Amino acid sequence: MRLKNRLAIVTGGSSGIGRAIALALSNEGAHVIVADIDESPRRGKYHEKSTTTPTVDEISKSGGQGTFMQCDMSDENSIRKLVDKTVKKHNRVDILVNNAGICFNRNSQETTTEDFDNLVDINLRGVFLATKYAVPHIKKSETGRIINIASVHAFHGGGGPAYAASKAGVVNLTKDTALELAPHGGTVNAICPGYIETAIQDELTEQDIKDSIEKTPLPRLGLPKDIGLAALFLASDDAEWITGISLIVDGGMLAPLPVV
Ligand SMILES: NC(=O)c1ccc[n+]([C@@H]2O[C@H](COP(=O)([O-])OP(=O)(O)OC[C@H]3O[C@@H](n4cnc5c(N)ncnc54)[C@H](O)[C@@H]3O)[C@@H](O)[C@H]2O)c1
Repeated sequence: MRLKNRLAIVTGGSSGIGRAIALALSNEGAHVIVADIDESPRRGKYHEKSTTTPTVDEISKSGGQGTFMQCDMSDENSIRKLVDKTVKKHNRVDILVNNAGICFNRNSQETTTEDFDNLVDINLRGVFLATKYAVPHIKKSETGRIINIASVHAFHGGGGPAYAASKAGVVNLTKDTALELAPHGGTVNAICPGYIETAIQDELTEQDIKDSIEKTPLPRLGLPKDIGLAALFLASDDAEWITGISLIVDGGMLAPLPVV
């Protein structure tokens, strides 16, 4: 049990990637706070069509420990309460996984100011606020970890002005927080997934999905567990000297020279 006695908060832990991360961490002994706006898993038109069991029930079935806490990552008060309630009950936070996110890919003319603000509030401001409130507790942990879920879209155009910019922001925020936590022995890293089989892909067309598989050197979509296992590694003692990085987990999608 690599994470025995550790307390992890996973935002957006009800569905998709967050759910796989919550399961991977709890399988190794962490008590996982599944923080989400909704306890029911999202069901997509392509993926996760029949996933209905709440993550904490899945954790219990595998003999792990988990608690659901409702939280809206666009609401500062809600995020503060999530951390306060966690610390009141468990007296610690060792691992924070900032995973909750939404996605749409519209250009500057199609994106309303309200759409932009809402996405950035969840995908970037929410990461900052959860970090802000959790850091004082993570500093006290001997094995403090923050893992931020960004995206391959952080590095290139084509992801829309809201989504791609929010993820680029997360990559930089990761490096900055890494410097803040390092004197306290904690690490802060990002994971940049390629295209993963979750309900967030409802935004895509079937052709987009086909194209993404064709452009992936290891030609398949990623599975949520591909990211869950990467997060487990970064959370474990094996990764104690890794900080400030963005680990790309994309089947090689970003490997070729873009002009080829
Ligand atoms: N699936 C992919 O292809 C892919 C690729 C790159 C990055 N990502 C990133 O991975 C993360 C997880 O995405 P996913 O694919 O699992 O999507 P998903 O839609 O399956 O899951 C997202 C979860 O976040 C929760 N959530 C949404 N808004 C919230 C809010 N305001 N407060 C709290 N919870 C909220 C949802 O309820 C859901 O449980 C996101 O940050 C996403 O941008 C996904």
